Amino acid sequence: MYKRMNTQSGFIGGQPVADDAKEKTTLSTEAASDDGLITVGEPEVDDAVISVRNCNVFYGDNQAIDNVSLDVSRNEVISLIGPSGCGKSTFIRCLNRMNDTIDGARVEGEIKLDGEEIYAKHVDPVLLRARVGMVFQKPNPFPKSVYENVAYGPRIHGLAHSRAELDEIVFSSLDRAGLLNEVKDRMDEPGTALSGGQQQRLCIARTIAVNPEVILMDEPCSALDPIATAKIEDLIEELRQNFSIAIVTHSMQQAARVSQRTAYFHMGRLVEVGATDKVFTNPIHRLTEDYVTGRIG
Ligand SMILES: Nc1ncnc2c1ncn2[C@@H]1O[C@H](COP(=O)(O)OP(=O)(O)OP(=O)(O)O)[C@@H](O)[C@H]1O
Ligand SMILES: [Mg+2]
Repeated sequence: MYKRMNTQSGFIGGQPVADDAKEKTTLSTEAASDDGLITVGEPEVDDAVISVRNCNVFYGDNQAIDNVSLDVSRNEVISLIGPSGCGKSTFIRCLNRMNDTIDGARVEGEIKLDGEEIYAKHVDPVLLRARVGMVFQKPNPFPKSVYENVAYGPRIHGLAHSRAELDEIVFSSLDRAGLLNEVKDRMDEPGTALSGGQQQRLCIARTIAVNPEVILMDEPCSALDPIATAKIEDLIEELRQNFSIAIVTHSMQQAARVSQRTAYFHMGRLVEVGATDKVFTNPIHRLTEDYVTGRIG
């Protein structure tokens, strides 16, 4: 027998919710959604660069994201956490229309960048992905030289009017990605000849070379050793001065180190979002608490 938590919510992601979650959730500021299920915490911010409302994603008949509303603020790092299969990658891919490239994927809801609907007919997904860049789990340099990996985006988007300007963009992007010193004498070598951690920083340099507003990172350190991971984490903190970053991570330590806000997903639902230290040390929802204390996941 399942118990109803309150009139608005009894199930999160199809899971029965423990009795004492009732007290926990009623403490929250609630964002009621159409079907009566709620996200607890603060999914909305005043200064949103990305604003998602009532997002649903389906793969064929299977629903992977269920009525998620969430803002990404300017100059913030937001971590997306949750058990495997809860929809973190699916959600992050909505933010730059990467799900467009997946057969059978269907996205519903409102997703705005700077107040403009990114799924509007006139929006060119290639231009959108320059404004909302993405760094993947496995470093994926192009099969080109280090220089060309970074020069490619600025060239196709017409950001440089001379070779000198292109050089400036390439070198400054590598510098901002903390890689220039290691590659300045290897600019003509294939990007794939670099170490894994260097390749990931090359991919970050490639992303920032087109001057995005938002950078999406899907487990960017999971293939890296602790030293390379530390370099990327330092870089994330620096990049926050100029960009907003949404990062998917399985490491709660990493989320705690790099992000100001954390969003906890569970079976396609956004259960809770709030200040990172609060989500980890004093979560509102029982499901969040179970995850951050290691009871589920
Ligand atoms: N290309 C796809 N085609 C069909 N179903 C998919 C596809 N990608 C993801 N799914 C399904 O959508 C759900 C959410 O998957 P998603 O990859 O977004 O989860 P995740 O939270 O990123 O998991 P992980 O932590 O393992 O990376 C899962 O049930 C998954 O099987
Ligand atoms: Mg994933």
